[in-house]
Amino acid sequence: TDIESFIRGLPKTDLHMHIEGSIEPQLMLDLAARNGMKLRWDTAEALRGAYQFDNLQSFLDLYFEGCKVLVTEGDFRDVTRAYLRRAHEDGVVRAELFIGPQSFIERGTPLEALMSGVLGAMQEARREHGLSVGLMISVHRHRTEADAMVMLDQIMPWKDQIIAIGMGGAEIGNPPAKFARFFKAARDRGFRTTVHAGEEGPAAYVREALDLLQVDRIDHGNACLADPDLVRELAMRRIPLTVCPLSNLRLQGVTEMARHPLKTMMAQGLHVTVNSDDPPYFGGYVTENLLACRDALDLSLQEIVRLVRNGLEAAFVTTEEREMLL
Ligand code: ADE
Ligand code: ZN
Repeated sequence: TDIESFIRGLPKTDLHMHIEGSIEPQLMLDLAARNGMKLRWDTAEALRGAYQFDNLQSFLDLYFEGCKVLVTEGDFRDVTRAYLRRAHEDGVVRAELFIGPQSFIERGTPLEALMSGVLGAMQEARREHGLSVGLMISVHRHRTEADAMVMLDQIMPWKDQIIAIGMGGAEIGNPPAKFARFFKAARDRGFRTTVHAGEEGPAAYVREALDLLQVDRIDHGNACLADPDLVRELAMRRIPLTVCPLSNLRLQGVTEMARHPLKTMMAQGLHVTVNSDDPPYFGGYVTENLLACRDALDLSLQEIVRLVRNGLEAAFVTTEEREMLL
């Protein structure tokens, strides 16, 4: 349709996606076969059929099971390359990618192999597609702060190739406060920071992310709407929120897209962006997310352009780089 090609043609960003959550079903089967592993599913359709979630934890269980197919440097290169090609075809001009190395290192993949595969595919995408792309290292909040500190030490050799430090995983019961020292350490070492907050957790977690962790961006952040003072502060400080509408729908943060708070968030002056999170699991890349919002929330073209511009403004790039993206 006209609107679909209009959205696809806009120079978009994807500022919140997880490399290990971007493995398309067929690639997951191929990687499993290559590594001599047997999955619980024999076909891509069967695997896709398993993408039904009640909440964040039910998704994380499947996501971490899927992570097991990523073992070698070539695996990390292939999955990163496949995502970046799709993103480019989707009209994304700037992609900021999370990867959470902890589970891979635990299973014996050297961090060098993971980084070399991911960074190699990123460099190839810059060259072949002219894509602007940055890597963010994410720690797991269901692990300890000491584990996160170890991760921070381990990634220092790649410091100049990492645009930010983030944190994901099971939110409820693992508040930002648990990682206050870790985020301070990351900031002290010169990293930008971002954190998943207010996806399933309460507004108080978004408040902690802002006050205790002093992050540059919030991933999701939906729950902030319950606290008007917090909304005002996020809006005035122009703290970007990387919202992921199809993710929220599929993890039952909202019962139907028509009830998604995106439009309310915009109306309250929040710096909201639209992102894919884990595209195959949730049924779409950035264009599908924007289209789903437009259809359910009756977004105007002006609002769609605003969301896309917000993404460009929220990207972890220099002013010079930002101007080159348009
Ligand atoms: N890891 C991958 N996707 C995530 C999400 N939506 N929330 C928390 N952790 C995640
Ligand atoms: Zn996420």
